[in-house]
Amino acid sequence: MRLGVNIDHVAVLREARRVNDPDILDALYVACANGADQITIHLREDRRHIQDIDVKNIILHSKVPVNLECSINRDILNIVADTAPHRATLVPEKRQEVTTEGGLDVFTSEEEVRYAIELLHDSIIPVSLFVDPSIKTMEKSKELGAEMVELHTGTFANLFAMLNSNLPHTKHSVKEYELPRYELSDRLEASLEAIKVSAVHAHSIGLEVAAGHGLNYHNVHEMMKIQEIVELNIGQSIIAKSVFSGLAEAVKEMRSLTIR
Ligand code: PXP
Repeated sequence: MRLGVNIDHVAVLREARRVNDPDILDALYVACANGADQITIHLREDRRHIQDIDVKNIILHSKVPVNLECSINRDILNIVADTAPHRATLVPEKRQEVTTEGGLDVFTSEEEVRYAIELLHDSIIPVSLFVDPSIKTMEKSKELGAEMVELHTGTFANLFAMLNSNLPHTKHSVKEYELPRYELSDRLEASLEAIKVSAVHAHSIGLEVAAGHGLNYHNVHEMMKIQEIVELNIGQSIIAKSVFSGLAEAVKEMRSLTIR
């Protein structure tokens, strides 16, 4: 399994104090030296973590491919086209959100997504679409010309945490999933089935398949069972662990769980 390590949160910490510490390039080197096959970063419209200069520096210094996530905003797309990452992943973006919520709506935003893919292809940048797992979105992603899809695993991860951790007893409990355990269990199974069926279908129509969002040391084994998924992009859980164990150990441990 290809492991994409998302290092945005290192820049979150830096931006919290508006200083030059921690250095995002240190994160790049440590992640790569300890098993990251890819570095994933998100150039958000509000620049709350990764800055334009980080994108340039990371692409310049990375020995592994850089997967640059971005919205379909035209100004952002022009920057992405100019910086030429190894791949662009199109994600939905709302200013107020804490993190990416849900997959890209490839139906209502069809024309904007098509334009974005064409613009990136003109700069010879392969495109992945971060989408919710369904057969319909796989078909549409293929029709729009993407090379790859990244299946949004947020629903799965939320259900998994509500069932298997103390999340329901904290203030971050996911309100819509405050349900009896048998119901959570059924929904978790259904969410996994949707990921699996979508991965199989996407693969069968020639799309490469990645997955990401909310994946961690406890739930990642479920993704490992789906052969059609060839890449995982993981950020929060790795950086959270690194606070206590250091980034090298945190990446190494995730690497050990994602070897096929
Ligand atoms: N993949 C995509 C497209 C994302 O937007 C994010 C979050 O930035 C991730 C993967 C990583 O998610 P997490 O930080 O929950 O591991």
